[in-house]
Amino acid sequence: MDRSKVLFTGGKGLLATHLKKHFPEGVFVDIEDFDITDNRQMDEFLSSNKVGTIVHCAAFTFVPKAEQNPGKLIDINIVGTANVVKICIKHGIKLVYISTDYVFDGKKGSYKEEDPVFPVNKYAWSKLGGECAVRLYENSLIIRTTFGPDVFPYEAAFIDQWTSREGVTVMSKKIADLIKKDVKGVFHVGGKRKTVFDYAKALDPSKSIKTRSINELDVTLPKDTSLDTTKYDDLMGS
Ligand SMILES: NC(=O)c1ccc[n+]([C@@H]2O[C@H](COP(=O)([O-])OP(=O)(O)OC[C@H]3O[C@@H](n4cnc5c(N)ncnc54)[C@H](OP(=O)(O)O)[C@@H]3O)[C@@H](O)[C@H]2O)c1
Repeated sequence: MDRSKVLFTGGKGLLATHLKKHFPEGVFVDIEDFDITDNRQMDEFLSSNKVGTIVHCAAFTFVPKAEQNPGKLIDINIVGTANVVKICIKHGIKLVYISTDYVFDGKKGSYKEEDPVFPVNKYAWSKLGGECAVRLYENSLIIRTTFGPDVFPYEAAFIDQWTSREGVTVMSKKIADLIKKDVKGVFHVGGKRKTVFDYAKALDPSKSIKTRSINELDVTLPKDTSLDTTKYDDLMGS
C-alpha cells in the first residue's frame, strides 16, 4: 500500500459506504480491524499498511441514545478522535475529521466557519471535543456537515428546525470533492437552508410526511444550524 492511499474509519457507516463510490481504491476499516479506542491495533495496522490520509468517519452517532451514554461519547468521539490525531502525528498522515453543524447553538443560523461554537446537547459537545484534538494538528481538515439516508426514515419531520442537510448521496459527492482538493482548515459543506420537513419532502415529494416539533423530544436539538458554505463554493467555483 502506498502513501497516496486514503483510509476511512467507520467504514461500514452511512457516510463511508457512500464515499466508497468516490474512492474506489480507498481502504475502508471499521471497529473489527481499526478500533479507534485501541491504539495498539491502529498502530500495527498503519505500520504494515502505509496511507497518506485518514478520513475519520467513525463515531457514536445516534443522538437520542447518545444523551444517555456520556461515557461512550467520551470514549469514542473525544478520546477515540484524539487517538486518531495522535496516530496521524506519529505516522505523518493527513487527517480529515467529519464534524457536525451541531457544534453551533442554533440561535442564528447561516453559520460561517469562524462563528463561535456552543453545542446544546452531549453528542454535539463530544464532536466538538473531537474537533479540539484535531485543531492541535496542522495537517488536518475539519468538515462540518449534515446528511441523512436518501430515504427519510421517519413518519414525521421537524417543522421548526432549519438545516443545510442533504441526502447522503448528494452530500458524500460534495465531501469527496473537497477531500480531493487537499485543503486544510475548517470547511462547511451543505445545501440550501430549509426546514427538516422541507428536506424530507424534497427527498421524495410523493411520500406523505407528518409535521412535528423539536420541543416534543426529550433531547435538546438546536433550532437553526444552517451553514454558510461560501468558503466551499468559492473553492469549488460553484
Ligand atoms: N449522520 C449525520 O447526520 C451526521 C451529521 C454530521 C456529522 N456526522 C458525522 O459524520 C460521521 C459519519 O456519520 P454516519 O452517519 O455515517 O455514522 P454511522 O453510520 O453511525 O457510522 C459510524 C461508524 O463508526 C463505527 N464505530 C463505532 N465505534 C467505533 C470504534 N470504536 N472504532 C471504529 N469504528 C467505530 C460504527 O460501528 P457500529 O455501527 O458497529 O457502532 C459505524 O460503522 C460521524 O463522525 C458523524 O458524527 C453525521
